[in-house]
Amino acid sequence: MPCVRKAVIPVAGLGTRVLPATKVMPKEMLPVFDRPSLQYVVDEARAAGIEHFVFVTGRQKYAIEDYFDRAYELEATLQKKSKTAILQKLQTSTPAAGSCSFVRQQAPLGLGHAVLCARDLVGDEPFAVMLPDMLMVSDPPCLQAMTRIHADHGGNLISVEQVPASQVDRYGIADFGEIVAPGVRRLSGMVEKPASDQAPSRHMISGRYILEPGIFDLLETQDLGAGGEIQLTDAMVRLMDQRPFHAYEFTGRTYDTGSKLGYLEAFLALSVSHDELGAQAADMIRRFADNL
Ligand code: UTP
Repeated sequence: MPCVRKAVIPVAGLGTRVLPATKVMPKEMLPVFDRPSLQYVVDEARAAGIEHFVFVTGRQKYAIEDYFDRAYELEATLQKKSKTAILQKLQTSTPAAGSCSFVRQQAPLGLGHAVLCARDLVGDEPFAVMLPDMLMVSDPPCLQAMTRIHADHGGNLISVEQVPASQVDRYGIADFGEIVAPGVRRLSGMVEKPASDQAPSRHMISGRYILEPGIFDLLETQDLGAGGEIQLTDAMVRLMDQRPFHAYEFTGRTYDTGSKLGYLEAFLALSVSHDELGAQAADMIRRFADNL
């Protein structure tokens, strides 16, 4: 099975749900404790063996390109001041030279359109799509588990996650066929935001995908869907008629950093699990909660 070497990370959305914080700052650059939320997603991709990152950017997103570049003046200053630990952290968090590409979406016409913009950079091979505002925490990391499943089963694979019945009308919901391996099921359909009594399951389509390049032809001819946008889900449903599709049941924690409360929850969760400052952060949060 060809391995998954490239990840498309769409970062061209407007982030209106977290305004005004995102008026000039891309939402993907908002810090979750001590690093931008996008750093966690890139680290997850690297852990899965991804070698090339394709960022689909838009206006006002320059900070992302700068963040993944080396900062020579800063590094020289840290070196001079013997701040070697932080210098090392900076250097290891930066992907290798030549491993990041940036393409402009030009207009926010939807997630499907954003993925289509990466077509030439992806070429004719299976690739991952990672929604950066879905911060997924687990061991092994979600995309790593998915690349292993993909190596065994091929085809297309998406992550799904159980949500309370009262919330199925907020998400794309998976319809399943048979179980093909522990935690892996054949996917027979997807329904956008169904009423809870009509939902085919309680599993929402979360933020990680491994797709075959055939998706691009379908995205190119995809009619506008929900919100007048080109929806990735609509093209995936068409691909499902032609090619095998599986769902990986993710059982870790997902934080939606694209919403204000999801962002707060991610910030708290990742601060208490920080390797150096986690215990102090937890004490601080406990003291704060006691005074509420
Ligand atoms: P969202 O649905 O969260 O949209 O996009 P958004 O515009 O970023 O945020 P809100 O709803 O206005 O607050 C899901 C993912 O798809 C990307 C976003 O950057 C995000 O990673 N996206 C969405 C694009 O790259 N282009 C688009 O046209 C739409």
